[in-house]
Amino acid sequence: MSADHEIENLLHEDRHFAPDSEFARQAIAQPALYQQAQADRLSFWANQAKELHWHKPFTQVLDWTNPPFARWFHDGEINISYNCLDRHVEAGNGDRVALYFEGEPGDSREVTYAELTRQVKKAANVLTELGVKAGDRVAIYMPMIPEAIVAMQAVARIGAVHSVIFGGFSAESLSTRIEDAQAKLVITADGGYRKGKASALKPAVDEALSGGKCASVKNVLVVKRTNQDVAWVEGRDIDWSLALGEASDEHVAQPFHAEHPLFILYTSGTTGKPKGILHTTGGYLTQAAYTHKNVFDLHAEQDVYWCTADIGWITGHSYVAYGPLANGASQVIYEGTPETPDWGRWWSIVQKYGVSILYTAPTAIRSFMKMGSQFPNQYNLSTIRVLGSVGEPINPEAWMWYRKVIGGGHAPIVDTWWQTETGAIMISPLPGITTLKPGSAQLPLPGIELKILDDDGNVLGNGHAGLLTITEPWPSMLRGIWGDPERFQDTYWSKFDGIYFAGDGAKFDEDGDLWLLGRVDDVMNVSGHRLSTAEIESALVSHPFVAEAAVVGAKDETTGQAVVAFVILRQSQLESVGSDADVSKILRDHVTKEIGPIARPRTIMVVGELPKTRSGKIMRRLLRDVAEDRPVGDVTTLADTSVMDIISGKIAGGASD
Ligand code: WTA
Repeated sequence: MSADHEIENLLHEDRHFAPDSEFARQAIAQPALYQQAQADRLSFWANQAKELHWHKPFTQVLDWTNPPFARWFHDGEINISYNCLDRHVEAGNGDRVALYFEGEPGDSREVTYAELTRQVKKAANVLTELGVKAGDRVAIYMPMIPEAIVAMQAVARIGAVHSVIFGGFSAESLSTRIEDAQAKLVITADGGYRKGKASALKPAVDEALSGGKCASVKNVLVVKRTNQDVAWVEGRDIDWSLALGEASDEHVAQPFHAEHPLFILYTSGTTGKPKGILHTTGGYLTQAAYTHKNVFDLHAEQDVYWCTADIGWITGHSYVAYGPLANGASQVIYEGTPETPDWGRWWSIVQKYGVSILYTAPTAIRSFMKMGSQFPNQYNLSTIRVLGSVGEPINPEAWMWYRKVIGGGHAPIVDTWWQTETGAIMISPLPGITTLKPGSAQLPLPGIELKILDDDGNVLGNGHAGLLTITEPWPSMLRGIWGDPERFQDTYWSKFDGIYFAGDGAKFDEDGDLWLLGRVDDVMNVSGHRLSTAEIESALVSHPFVAEAAVVGAKDETTGQAVVAFVILRQSQLESVGSDADVSKILRDHVTKEIGPIARPRTIMVVGELPKTRSGKIMRRLLRDVAEDRPVGDVTTLADTSVMDIISGKIAGGASD
């Protein structure tokens, strides 16, 4: 079936689920939200911002005099950590659990708001003693343990800027990101538990800093989680618990301007170099808190919320480290993988903590579906009342399974579309208001203005697929790309003047519900993780065996897309290693080393030629057809004629440049 056919089938989805009236009555989000935002968008956002504590109130909501550089609430002053911590303690909620931590080996810890505040104050004092000042960058490379949240909050509390690097990135990736941000400090751990064993992190930091690289880094703060042996550089490395043990737990949060930089998060774009997406303070927290509360229907006193994302991704920033804490939520954080010790682990966690709101990715849902309902069915999941999905389109089958097996046949599912760049959720149903349609993200949230345009910028009506754009600035929008204002402008604002181009295709159906149709650029989405074809290609060609490489994201039942690489080998180099060398393994290992295990190609296809346009541009679309149509094994060596035959077959079938 062609992609177009599949989309047509999707768009004829006619299952509808109206909100339960009891749920609707008690829901946080009420239909008036839409009317308020419609009537006056800026005062709507001002009202959301006023839910936060401002050391100095703002008088101007938005300054958009120098697009695309927005300033939100810019004359206000705020401390993000005070909003996430101190104010809950001062309001008498210090005994409320902030974090239910579940370690993979089965250890657990409950951290109250009072205790989390105390830890963050201590950590803030440690950072200050190490010479970290407002505006300095701090790299964080950690497992999902409470100290990771403490680290992010402490960096933000003193006005420094964190750059969290996902633990699945290699030393090489770590080092590029530390260099780009000129980080002064790295916060890491000896390791974390994954797949039943201790998995080291510190050695990657040591390697990233070795041989004079990353000279900006003065110290490395190390949390001992696994107590595995680690190398120790005297004078540079500092034991986190010793340092926090000695530090004072008194720390007064100072106000910062609303536009003070909060964090950089690197994400993949269409070129080989990752972009450091920059977010600032007041607008970011406003939208993270507003969406967290309304989209997930958070009743902070009763709910137990669990977002399964790692802090290495934007979801782990907005919906673990900031939004939930700003709203005083009690949340679960889990260190390990879903299949350890077996596929029932997540559901045992839901039962153990009485999770009522679960936010995860379609790739995880599809894996659970594949393993079978017997795993979730062994546990009591009756506490669940709202389910969320993020990272890629959720196919209607997975949606139905999620609602039936995990949501007891009644929990509303919020399919939330957003990006690292948007900072917070932009498109989503609102539980209790929206009649749900499986597979559709449905509507922009109140306060968000979007349009679907054709290539020439004409607005498309219902039923026409085009490019998703956001036509008005929003509080949690990215403020730039670290150190590269030109790339910021080119990437997002140049296709349509003054309008944000998201890079996704989309379509409104006949009812006016929005469907996301995947990326329209060379960005892949593997298990909800963004990867760039160019980045993997440049990793491949950095290996002496490879003369040329082309990477595509091929459809994959579980991971959404999978990385498939077509490579042309250098015969001369190959001769030196002998003919039985496992080239595929060597190259896959090489990508793992250069970027990290998340970028490891599923398949390497050795070819003699790559299909190119006359101007020399690789025809990826044809390669994707090849990658998807053929049942491929681990290694498939295609003689150039066979690749070219298949490809020319496609060309004959009407494919063009
Ligand atoms: C995709 C993750 C369809 C989209 C928060 C976007 C989605 C990219 C959805 C951003 C969704 C995210 N439906 N597609 N609900 N959510 N995407 O920056 O292609 O890691 O551009 O942010 O993921 O990925 P990122």
